[in-house]
Amino acid sequence: MNNRLAQSNDSVRALSWTPAGLSILDQRLLPGEVRFELFERAEGVAEAIRSMRVRGAPAIGIAAAFGVVLAARHRYARNPEHWRREIMQDLQTLAGSRPTAVNLFWALERMRQAFGEIQGEPEPVLLERAKAIHEADIEGNKIMGELGSDILADARGVLTHCNTGSLATGGYGTALGVIRSAVRKGLERIFATETRPWNQGARLTLWELQQDGIPATLIADSCAATILKSGRVQWVIVGADRIAANGDVANKIGTYSLAVLARYHKVRFMVVAPVSTIDPALADGGGIRIEERERSELLPRCFRDDPGSVDAWNPVFDVTPAELVDVLVTERGVVQHPDQAGIERLLSSQP
Ligand code: MRU
Repeated sequence: MNNRLAQSNDSVRALSWTPAGLSILDQRLLPGEVRFELFERAEGVAEAIRSMRVRGAPAIGIAAAFGVVLAARHRYARNPEHWRREIMQDLQTLAGSRPTAVNLFWALERMRQAFGEIQGEPEPVLLERAKAIHEADIEGNKIMGELGSDILADARGVLTHCNTGSLATGGYGTALGVIRSAVRKGLERIFATETRPWNQGARLTLWELQQDGIPATLIADSCAATILKSGRVQWVIVGADRIAANGDVANKIGTYSLAVLARYHKVRFMVVAPVSTIDPALADGGGIRIEERERSELLPRCFRDDPGSVDAWNPVFDVTPAELVDVLVTERGVVQHPDQAGIERLLSSQP
């Protein structure tokens, strides 16, 4: 564990660049096994995103940015004259890896825009840009941590959903970053949903917090109403995969249910996400493409080899209407009761 990171209760890094390629912590194996795998080609990075070795909206974007560096290295070595033309295929492969998190498309666009500045070998310019995207994400998370934790000043307990921490981002985390900062300011209780069917909460959030010595209590997804009714939680805090221009929020399946339950029980609901998660091209959440994953991720093992006799439907995100969100925290500032005007004001403010 890096000492500096350990001191800030932030020891986990899922993505790191090495001269040979991108090292990715395989999140499918956590918490049982901590295994890093080196990816030397863009196709491999796309597959790592598709298979959820790396997951979480900002982390997907960062991995894709480094995937573009690998693509440029490979294309330029094979055909220095025409690497710009050939790399478009790699951008498409990376873009096709997962559909919902807009950070993926945002990061690919940022990388593509750098092509214009390049003369000669593309890798140095693209690597610098990918590293800048990674570092800016961590910095942004720390700013959101401060802003969000100030709002939580009176909270004794919070509930979070999915994994939004260092594993899901460049480091520190969005919703979990706010929780990290709030713990330093005296937050007492963290409840984490298991987040079926992939169990990001049970496997990843609990593991990540354990690495940093932050105690958390796991609850079954179906326990959410009970915990919110109990009075032990003052805020539900979640991340986002895509936020529409009117403030509707796509996030891990189950977020919408939590927002409805929170409103009923007068518990406040906070969304924490970098500005890169906002998709101003979409008027509202109805336009967000929701990923549906394999039914085998959901079905009990004994049914998986028996196609046809049982069925399952596995949308892995849902859309929470903006009216259920009390506050949106971004690195550029906080929007209370987000709506179209609030999002417009945020986007037009200075970065
Ligand atoms: O399917 P996943 O694990 O990639 O989904 C992750 C989430 O839904 C997170 O809440 C979201 O990406 C925000 S993470 C900072």
